[in-house]
Amino acid sequence: MNAPSRIVLVGFMGAGKSHVGRLVSRSLGWAFYDFDREIERTAGRTISEIFEADGEATFREIEASVGERLLGMERSVLSTGGGWGATPGWDERLPPDTLSIWLRVSPEVAVSRAGRDRPLLEVADPIERARELLQARIPYYRKARMTLDSDRWSPAELADQIVSSVRDR
Ligand code: S3P
Repeated sequence: MNAPSRIVLVGFMGAGKSHVGRLVSRSLGWAFYDFDREIERTAGRTISEIFEADGEATFREIEASVGERLLGMERSVLSTGGGWGATPGWDERLPPDTLSIWLRVSPEVAVSRAGRDRPLLEVADPIERARELLQARIPYYRKARMTLDSDRWSPAELADQIVSSVRDR
């Protein structure tokens, strides 16, 4: 692909999408958008409140429409929510000048990092839950053009690798 004008980070909760995305946007001087924060701003409620009051299906509808709007932004880094990159056809909806990156994380590391406000992990055995969700989602996350191992690299190292890959194209 030619030089991208947009980076989309996908991957499971706790992969570091927001942290890494912010660092990359600063290095490139591009705008940064975090799907979850934009959803909260649009809905005027937290993610947990939306899940609790309206359920996951409504959350996914809001997420899909916020995602569609954000994908129109140029010179931007987009950190998606963990479920967005697991929806069938997400990669086909990307504008052509988009570099998509899967930040891969293990269930153990994901659960140890994912803090508050993750309704899907508020269960008796969050690691088991993360395993199940990941197993179902990996075939979709895999559609990203590039994969980086978030268990192995720090957010700063991941951001450096992404910035170099954008500058090399
Ligand atoms: C979700 C991930 C969360 C948030 C919501 C659902 C998921 O985003 O969108 O809790 O389905 O994996 P992060 O991946 O930013 O934690």
